[in-house]
Amino acid sequence: MKEININSKYYLIETMGCQMNERDSETVAGMLENLGYGRVPPCAGGVAEARALADVIVVNTCSVRENADNRFFGVLGQIKKAKEQEPSKIVAVCGCMMQQEHVVERIRRVFPWVDIVFGTMNIEAFPSLLADAQAKSDARGKMIGDARGKTMSTVRGETVVDVRDSAGPADSIVEGLPSKREHPHKAFVNIMYGCNNYCTYCIVPYTRGRERSREPEAILDEVRSLAQDGVKEVMLLGQNVNSYCGGGTDFPALIGLLDEIPGIERLRFMTSHPKDLSDELVECYRTARRLCPSIHLPIQSGSTEVLRRMNRGYAKEDYLALIDKLRGANPDIVITTDFIVGFPGETDADFAHTMDVIERVRFDSAFTFLYSPRTGTPAAEYEDQVPDDIAHERFERMVNRLNDITMEKNRRLVGGVYDVLIEGESKTDKATLSGRTPGGKLVNIRPPEPGDYVGQILPVRLTEANTFSFLGEFA
Ligand code: SAH
Ligand code: SF4
Ligand code: F3S
Repeated sequence: MKEININSKYYLIETMGCQMNERDSETVAGMLENLGYGRVPPCAGGVAEARALADVIVVNTCSVRENADNRFFGVLGQIKKAKEQEPSKIVAVCGCMMQQEHVVERIRRVFPWVDIVFGTMNIEAFPSLLADAQAKSDARGKMIGDARGKTMSTVRGETVVDVRDSAGPADSIVEGLPSKREHPHKAFVNIMYGCNNYCTYCIVPYTRGRERSREPEAILDEVRSLAQDGVKEVMLLGQNVNSYCGGGTDFPALIGLLDEIPGIERLRFMTSHPKDLSDELVECYRTARRLCPSIHLPIQSGSTEVLRRMNRGYAKEDYLALIDKLRGANPDIVITTDFIVGFPGETDADFAHTMDVIERVRFDSAFTFLYSPRTGTPAAEYEDQVPDDIAHERFERMVNRLNDITMEKNRRLVGGVYDVLIEGESKTDKATLSGRTPGGKLVNIRPPEPGDYVGQILPVRLTEANTFSFLGEFA
């Protein structure tokens, strides 16, 4: 890795995707900090000012739905202004969108001033790509004198592109990359990468490659060192954590090992796939002391026929039986899910099954997405796409019912006392602390007096329920 001494230079990372995307951004941030860059300080002028201040801008993209793609191209259009003002600014784009040839092609054609393009399989290459891009930028600077104020045509072209189809020989995993974590007391830990499930609507298997699991020792070492750094909560990440298998250790066994690490008070994971949720994992909710009583278990649809065409590998009844098992292990377990509305061929009768599941499971909360055709996935080629107005009507009906149920369930928790990990100040009001219950419910608390509460797990009585959060007081 080339050493560059660039003190008091700033970086800005804009992350557009899921937790795995956020974790990758932490790695890129760690690399930039090792190179002497500091994160852009908080800017009163918002993201436009941050972009203007940054010497390096990295946009980490998501491709899961079309609106994510559109947002990215919108953001690039805005970043162009900052780059025009300061052509020596390095702009890098990475993440899931870059794994698709047509996207990289479009960047070369429409946004040739982008300096670096890299993918999800070679994040470790970023420091050397940055050095290459800087060398090119310096050479351009010499050629055109002070490029400041010149038109973009004087600085266009020569994008450094490094996107790979797989993560190298035998789909290796690079360990030991640096990291600059977002939160002091909770951390994301990857346990596996990629996905082999090929749900027919989903782009992720194409953007994240084949499933590969980290060795359990590498995960345990990372979590032990996080505990030493004061981390209390660990979120284990994978597209399908249930299919984790590292060095002969499966996912429930891994939870058993992590449960023993002193200092880690809370273990969570996402995402688990219903088709692979084993009895052993359900049993963990009884036996693992630190496993939080919550699970995100995406169902996508309540119709067995739609699930078959989605290639999900389970039927409506299988999902309902899993919920019974989970509630058998812990009746208070918080259950959340994802739905896709308007999957090709979804009939009124199919949708009625989805509404029926909503009534029967009574989810604590749910993310609902309008089906978005993704180029290269089988479902994008299905002929019976659902008209927009029908999909929107179903979407609205469903979200209203889900929100009503969330509210009914949240109201019943009012008066109860829960251990809350205080994560920081509330986003909207600095005098208010915010934290989460073991089930993951967000609580805002006005402390009776100022104090050093952040990072502590404290008993909190819930006093008022809203759809997405609670008010609470120290009990
Ligand atoms: N690995 C996770 C999901 C990752 S994507 C799992 O299998 O559960 C997160 C969510 O995005 C999915 O659960 C799905 O609800 C939604 N999603 C994925 N592809 C989509 C598409 N083409 N259109 C709409 N929603 C989609
Ligand atoms: Fe996509 Fe399905 Fe894999 Fe989840 S399990 S990432 S929805 S292909
Ligand atoms: Fe998006 Fe990639 Fe995550 S497509 S949802 S950032 S795995």
